[in-house]
Amino acid sequence: MQKQKIAFEYSVFESILELDKVHRELMLLADAARKNAYAPYSNFQVGAAVLLENGKVVIGNNQENACYPSGLCAERVAIFQAGAVYPNQIIKAIAISASSSKQSLKMPAAPCGNCRQSIAEYELKQVQPITILMSGAEGNVFKCDSISDLLPLAFDSTYLI
Ligand code: THU
Repeated sequence: MQKQKIAFEYSVFESILELDKVHRELMLLADAARKNAYAPYSNFQVGAAVLLENGKVVIGNNQENACYPSGLCAERVAIFQAGAVYPNQIIKAIAISASSSKQSLKMPAAPCGNCRQSIAEYELKQVQPITILMSGAEGNVFKCDSISDLLPLAFDSTYLI
């Protein structure tokens, strides 16, 4: 028997102001998208902005439903829309911005497991890493260089061949 260890590094920025221009502008678009979230049940608003290689940005926000499981997270609304409209574009980065009407969210919210799995699908398809930026309504911003850091030992299409 052997023990294996998986470790990863991520960057912590003090605020959105410390990000480079491209990532700061992407996060500002995620912030703007968050303000249009439809989250009457959780009161937790999330916005996402997907940056493509052609420079276009596709946004999404969480869309809730009275039948709770029928709703969808911001990240998947955005990345599925990017896949639908620009199927052959490389995805460079996704910025995720979260807030809560019930508490002041001063730290980033990380994508849920289903969103990690969905982002991982596109990263594998394009064979290029996707940068993940995460922010709360204020405070620190986290940056991961690949979704594989957030989803080690992922299930993917290689199992289905
Ligand atoms: N939510 C997202 O949009 N993204 C995540 O990664 C985590 C959770 C949404 C789903 C739901 O509308 C609300 O936040 C509370 O879970």
